[in-house]
Amino acid sequence: MLELDHVIKRFGGLPAVDDLSFSVRTGEILGVIGPNGAGKTTVIGIVGGALAPTSGVIRFQGRDITRLSPHQRAHLGIARTFQIAQPFAGLSVRENVIVGALFGGRAHGRAEAIRIADEVIERTQLTAKARFRGDELTIADRKRLEMARALALRPRLLLLDEVMAGLTPAEVEQAVQLIRDINQSGVIVVVIEHIMKAIRGVSDRVLVIHFGKRIAEGAPQQVLSDPKVIEAYLGERYARSGQEQVQLAPNVSDLTPTNREESDS
Ligand SMILES: Nc1ncnc2c1ncn2[C@@H]1O[C@H](COP(=O)(O)OP(=O)(O)OP(=O)(O)O)[C@@H](O)[C@H]1O
Ligand SMILES: [Mg+2]
Repeated sequence: MLELDHVIKRFGGLPAVDDLSFSVRTGEILGVIGPNGAGKTTVIGIVGGALAPTSGVIRFQGRDITRLSPHQRAHLGIARTFQIAQPFAGLSVRENVIVGALFGGRAHGRAEAIRIADEVIERTQLTAKARFRGDELTIADRKRLEMARALALRPRLLLLDEVMAGLTPAEVEQAVQLIRDINQSGVIVVVIEHIMKAIRGVSDRVLVIHFGKRIAEGAPQQVLSDPKVIEAYLGERYARSGQEQVQLAPNVSDLTPTNREESDS
């Protein structure tokens, strides 16, 4: 369904994405993890069309989409969220989501865009905030708005970049449930997240990248206890003994930031 074939992205010197190939199948939720700067957001930019790869091919539903614009990809059903939420500050939540519905051209006219917007606002629990302006929202609500705007595109492929960062554990549970529901309705989901509990709870398969390369891929439990993965997160000195690895695996989330909103800009 989605396939990246030997994708490289350079921003100058070292590649941010380095000869990366992977695919996501229909019906699947793929979790993508990796340390800060691993290239996760860059991958989403390349799939969503905001970034052109230096080389390599991206295919969606069997079609080469490497040179399509973000707007053309939205038409095909590819939607993404932004790690740093980017609502239109002067517009209300509802207006922001209506713009989302219109962007992909999947809503036929204003009335349908409004109907879709109200439906996804409810689904993302923003109904009480529908009149708030984008710049009046808390981080958690901005994350919800990012989800709502992406969902308003009626996507076939949803790319989520740390939509759970900054949420309380209860809100993370709700987000995991929402993502599962969306997936059940036939949407392929790619979830980037630093919260390991969420990754474990949501992913059918996990891909781990480090310095833009794949270092592990497989079932969540297996991948999260892989010494290579723990080493990438914690540094070599913590990953020497097998005993330590087993103990450290469940705690990886404790040692990684869960809300880096401030430090990210
Ligand atoms: N627009 C850009 N211009 C130059 N360098 C960039 C750009 N975007 C990303 N990079 C670099 O590419 C590398 C990968 O960045 P990316 O944002 O994809 O990492 P990430 O895995 O999403 O990290 P995080 O977990 O911190 O969000 C980093 O070294 C980053 O500094
Ligand atoms: Mg990122």
